[in-house]
Amino acid sequence: MPVGIFDSGLGGLCALKELHRILPTTDLVYFGDTGRTPYGTRSAETIMKYAAQDARFLLCQNVSAILIACGTASTVALNALKISLPVPVFGVVSAASREAAAATKNGKIGVMGTGATISSGVFEHELKLINGSLEVTSVACPLLVPIVEYGFAEDEIAYLAVKRYLQPIVDAGADTVILGCTHFPILKNMMKKAAPDINFVDSGAAAARQIAEACGEGKESGAIHCYVSDTPSNFNKTAKVFLGEEFDFDVERVDIEKY
Ligand code: DGL
Repeated sequence: MPVGIFDSGLGGLCALKELHRILPTTDLVYFGDTGRTPYGTRSAETIMKYAAQDARFLLCQNVSAILIACGTASTVALNALKISLPVPVFGVVSAASREAAAATKNGKIGVMGTGATISSGVFEHELKLINGSLEVTSVACPLLVPIVEYGFAEDEIAYLAVKRYLQPIVDAGADTVILGCTHFPILKNMMKKAAPDINFVDSGAAAARQIAEACGEGKESGAIHCYVSDTPSNFNKTAKVFLGEEFDFDVERVDIEKY
């Protein structure tokens, strides 16, 4: 049975890539809610409704487990989906927090995410559960998702925005930063340029490693099926931004409001 992955858009493809790298024989089904992205500016109630529909769609594809490859949906909806769904559900928070807590040398960690993710306080809570003495500096970075979506990830505008958002984290002396939004790894070059001494943890990739541990291998060669809630026409072109290479995914449109 395939593993299901969903995101508000295509940012979760970075997690899909990592999962496919570790479990190349496992079938994967990806859903990107491109018709309703972004989630990070919406209320918890709306994010919960969307995440539940996304998960129900994946269940209809007979998935054996679900990875919420979206920082925003993970912080808002993970616990509710874990309770209500008949398959194991993974989010990005615990895996990324575990990797960051293990990586930090000075106990100071930064968290960057969407407005909804940061205001939920979920990363901070998880990090404190792992180690109560960790010092956490969380920064909402609402400009970064549109910068990535509109193709400015390699532009000076991205550098300026990243540097500005990193400033409080650098000032706090953090040596490790969780990229709590699955769009942000696309900005890793800019992050490294703005703060060369900081170690960045990609939350989607960390979650993919966690689910891979739990799921194990499949058959000879894993197939990947992709679905979106808006037109699939630009999917493969936009996916290249997130995957760094060209894939020719088979993509179908879904009426997600039916689920
Ligand atoms: N991929 C989403 C996340 O990780 C960011 C985009 C959005 O706001 O929907 O939070």
